Amino acid sequence: MATLIDNGPKAIDINNLAQDDKVHRSVYTDPAVFALEMERIWEKSWIYVGHESQVKEPGQYYSTTIGRQPVILTRHTDGEIYVLFNRCAHKGAKLVGDECGKAKELRCCYHGWRFHLDGSLLSIPLEQGYDGTDFNRDDPDANVQRVPRYDSYRGFVFASLSAEGPDLVDWLGGVASSIDNMADRAPDGELEITGGVMRYEHDSNWKFFIENLNDLMHPMVTHQSSSLTARVVAKKSLGDQPAPPAIEIISPFTESYSFFDEMGLHAFDHGHGYSGGKTSIHAKYSDVPDYNAAMEKAYGKEKVEEIFAVNRHNTVFYPSATIKGAIQTMRVVKPIAVDKTVIESWTFRLKGAPDELLKRSILYCNLINSSANLVGPDDQEAYRRQQTGLESEGADWVLMHRDHGRDEDLGNGHIYAKGSSDLAFRNQYRAWKRYMSEGAS
Ligand SMILES: [Fe+2]
Repeated sequence: MATLIDNGPKAIDINNLAQDDKVHRSVYTDPAVFALEMERIWEKSWIYVGHESQVKEPGQYYSTTIGRQPVILTRHTDGEIYVLFNRCAHKGAKLVGDECGKAKELRCCYHGWRFHLDGSLLSIPLEQGYDGTDFNRDDPDANVQRVPRYDSYRGFVFASLSAEGPDLVDWLGGVASSIDNMADRAPDGELEITGGVMRYEHDSNWKFFIENLNDLMHPMVTHQSSSLTARVVAKKSLGDQPAPPAIEIISPFTESYSFFDEMGLHAFDHGHGYSGGKTSIHAKYSDVPDYNAAMEKAYGKEKVEEIFAVNRHNTVFYPSATIKGAIQTMRVVKPIAVDKTVIESWTFRLKGAPDELLKRSILYCNLINSSANLVGPDDQEAYRRQQTGLESEGADWVLMHRDHGRDEDLGNGHIYAKGSSDLAFRNQYRAWKRYMSEGAS
């Protein structure tokens, strides 16, 4: 029986909107559904905030958002990281206006209240004016508030605006191994964000992007004009010469249905999942000189073989972050409105590895993720067309029936299906429905 959830003047029927094998178009188009998603998913679940390497030194800060709320990731003089609400304790002004920087203290631009980077109050101009009043500088409310929970997994910092819910490691579950594999690919076992961020705006709902990453039935169609053209041109001009990195990267997008089927889909609780495993579109990149030697020196031959045997395509940490471990890139989702989303594309350096790998990651982001290059714009066009099509009254349902009922249960919440299955979508909506009905806790 459907559960009616009171959302002010309008009741949103969650169970009817997201069914086992189809979702109602309004999940992508209704501003009231978007507002409820912000409250019950984005402001409850663990959301990716940033990487510890962005705040390596005491005094460094990085400002971002969790759902609709501005937050700051900081490194205090005690060496610890903190995630604070970006709000002055005095009259509420956004404390940090720029995106990142380094400072001995955080000083509000409005009335000059100063705070340590752990949020604690440092000083107030003419503080004696508060003597004998109800204001108490030792009251926790006089500090910049920390978000209820934050934690880091191998340098990846997530935060939750809910005081309750599973801890980060439990919540990550089966996809923590994707972070492990990306970090293990560094001879020093650590990653660091390098350079800036590529940030682009999609005129479409946030879920189109997060669904698309493990949609293995679209590349050979959507990317035909970019990837297949690159293959044909490369074949003509290069003949049997080895393909340059750009061609190695772009060609596999138009592999066959059977190739993508073979990659497979893996789904876990909380909407997480990855595609690929033993193989992926990244599996056939040329060796980078000196990299294998550095890895073998660090880990030994057997362990290195184990690390490189994991070849995943996209891993989704639902709802906010996705990584490509094999190419050391990350994309972060920032929903703005029901039909507007910002996607950030970041690159990582593998500590102890040759710079050639970082160059390849940057090439990947420029070539594939950028709005001004190939492949990414194909996807954006598809998302925008979905947004436009679903705003029509042509039909109510978005279908995800393919291979429904044929998933393989591998135990411990790990579900497997061949790549052409709609498993990834059904799994995301299973989590969506739970969050929207109950909240993350
Ligand atoms: Fe695509």
